[in-house]
Amino acid sequence: REPPMIYLNGEFIPIEQARIPVLDRGFIFGDGVYEVIPAYSKRPFRLAQHLARLQASLAAIRITNPHGDAQRSALVRKIIAGNPWEDQNVYLQVTRGVAKRDHASPKGLKPTVFLMASELVTPSAELMRTGAQAIVLPDFRWLRCDIKSTSLLGNCMLRTQAADGDCVEAILVRDGEMTEASASNVFIVKNGTVLAPPKSHLILPGITYDVVLEILRDNAIVHEIRPVAEAELRSADEVWVTSSSREVLPITSLDGRPVGMGKPGPVGERV
Ligand code: PDD
Repeated sequence: REPPMIYLNGEFIPIEQARIPVLDRGFIFGDGVYEVIPAYSKRPFRLAQHLARLQASLAAIRITNPHGDAQRSALVRKIIAGNPWEDQNVYLQVTRGVAKRDHASPKGLKPTVFLMASELVTPSAELMRTGAQAIVLPDFRWLRCDIKSTSLLGNCMLRTQAADGDCVEAILVRDGEMTEASASNVFIVKNGTVLAPPKSHLILPGITYDVVLEILRDNAIVHEIRPVAEAELRSADEVWVTSSSREVLPITSLDGRPVGMGKPGPVGERV
């Protein structure tokens, strides 16, 4: 067997051999949900939490979980074992399945289940030293950003706009408040206090967000979970974006202006 090895609907196969029908509702409507699970030294990180969030996404869009948790975690472990890298990004997607095109979904479809892995590439030491650039954009996505849906058109448009301006992220603002970024959560530091918006239908409940909160609590670092105004974001001393692949990445330039002193700050470095 040649890597990369993927899983599709019951089979472990090389990715070149994987085929899905064009009428899969994931392809036609983006009718599906997903997870990205990091693995370090071939061991999945926070697997139970990722599978719980997957279950919440499936329940929110009423897809019956085609596997139990034990079965699903076995699949994740097999994919990791079947691929060569020590550190991996495991991608897991479940779509509603194949049906004649109709917005209203028929009941009882067989979900399509797909897993693949890639090398986990976290931010370079150089980027961690200098910090990264981001832009601020209006959050024009839908109102169920808590569902980890494969319908990512808004996120892709926003992230592409960021990339066009040589930025790693678009940090999003809705009704004068910071929500999250196109593919990460956002924390800021203001006058020594770490601030992050509470979980709601406007943001993805990040697994890394939870990890950061644990670190803040365990180390008695002053923090408040409350709405963060756009003005606070723009005048922050530190800004970090967090995700499974970016870990905790300092943002040192926002819309071309320096954040704080324009280099990674002490609180982020400590975390
Ligand atoms: N993105 N918010 C959004 C919109 C995201 O897409 C992600 C993750 C996060 C951070 O969640 P976590 O800490 O659980 O990775 C927040 C993944 C990595 C992706 O889509 O590739």
